[in-house]
Amino acid sequence: MGYPIPKDPRLLGPFQPMRFEATVEECIVTYGEIPKDLAGGFYRVGPTWKRPTKQGTNGLLSMDGMVQGLVIENGRADFRNRWIRTPKYALEQQHRKSMFAFADGDWQDWRNFGLGDAVRDQFTCGVPQGTSNVNIFPFQGKMLATADSVGAPIAVDPITLDTVGIVPWSSKLSAGIHEKAAFGDAGFTAHPKWDRETGMLYGWTYRDRRPYVTLHFVHPSGAVETRDLDDAPYNTVAHDIWLTPEHVVMPFQPFLVDRARIAEGRSVYSWEPDRPIVLALIPRHDIHGPVRWVTLDADPQYVMHTMSANVEGGRLTLDAPIFNRPPFPFEQDFEEGDEVALFFSIAKSQLGRWTVDLDTGKTGVEQLSDRPSELPKVDERFYGQGYRWGYQVGGRVKRSGMSMNSLVVTDMRTLSDQEYTIRTDQPAAVLEATFAPRTPDSPEGDGYIIVPVSWWAENRGEYLIFDTDDITRGPITRIELPFRLGWTAHGHWLDFRS
Ligand SMILES: [Fe+2]
Repeated sequence: MGYPIPKDPRLLGPFQPMRFEATVEECIVTYGEIPKDLAGGFYRVGPTWKRPTKQGTNGLLSMDGMVQGLVIENGRADFRNRWIRTPKYALEQQHRKSMFAFADGDWQDWRNFGLGDAVRDQFTCGVPQGTSNVNIFPFQGKMLATADSVGAPIAVDPITLDTVGIVPWSSKLSAGIHEKAAFGDAGFTAHPKWDRETGMLYGWTYRDRRPYVTLHFVHPSGAVETRDLDDAPYNTVAHDIWLTPEHVVMPFQPFLVDRARIAEGRSVYSWEPDRPIVLALIPRHDIHGPVRWVTLDADPQYVMHTMSANVEGGRLTLDAPIFNRPPFPFEQDFEEGDEVALFFSIAKSQLGRWTVDLDTGKTGVEQLSDRPSELPKVDERFYGQGYRWGYQVGGRVKRSGMSMNSLVVTDMRTLSDQEYTIRTDQPAAVLEATFAPRTPDSPEGDGYIIVPVSWWAENRGEYLIFDTDDITRGPITRIELPFRLGWTAHGHWLDFRS
């Protein structure tokens, strides 16, 4: 059976799917040299369209996860990309067609996220619906791919990108947005944080019914500490957290998910800005200890991704790009039949800071930059320890959203920054960067920043390597791929030297 790629905004421009698996050994370096001291892999995951769903539609979160990996060693880079062999993917490969339908999957318009419950039949009964399509992060020498509270983490081999399988500790995790389809099915966040010293992975899952959030702190051994947040104020899309020396700080923001809305003809997501933003300060070293709830004194705003946090003199500073609203379509401004519009085309964010006086509980909001920016990253060796250096993709205002075009490095102590414009008017996707340290023990922020760029109109991909000594000089290395990189949401660096 053949079919054209549907004329669907989810599959056009930078979202054109990479429908093949490739191995490119000894990638062409078109400028500079790959630093000889780098050894590791840069892995990214995104929802990748293989075929329409059984309903003939293309909900973004129903698309199968694909991992792209660039492995760097001895001045050489090898690229691979592979589908993640989730149970859903394996079933559909076995039958060579779509086997899944979703409660919100009949809609042809913006309301279709592919996040409704899977419609179960004799083939899909007992098969988890997770697609592992949002992020991939290191844990115990493997890379773990997850969606956002849909499906358990799936381990991927860092060299071959072969799917190793669902992590053995998945049976200790709670259900995510959907009920568990089988033993070992679960939910897990797309944006956990980790502690390099202890190897602890700080994760959680969220859902639209109480308890709205369940914390899962995973030990290197695979032991899992679990706590339901029974007194959570409301259900929220708990997408990201801050990790401090003492706390997991989880924001409850009025971006809600509720499957019951689908039966009413409404999108699974809602934005209810009249609700307050409430921060949960959870003791990181005592998961069952008292949670401190702090209501943020702020106008409606939204943090999708955190940068990092500092605690100094009893003052907690929580840094992040702050949006005017979540970058997803809602019923306030989209009508039935409207095409989907996503992410940075409909909302914009600028670097900001939420502050909490830990003695008095007084809170504040600061805007730190006028420049549109998102996709914040840091030197992840120092997660949970405070930080100085922040990295983002910068942009410029475009209609009600923003167009991303640059790499921005910010000294969070002085708020001075450096910017390098990667593209001007050429159609290209400047994707989320990653930091790689110069050596395993180099100081925070000393090393390299790797930025993937999809020059999709030219069917060309590129990885740019910047030296943190001065990014304004431009990339020190350009690694070229002879095809368009499919769109990916997030990823991380795995260092082979440490
Ligand atoms: Fe994310």
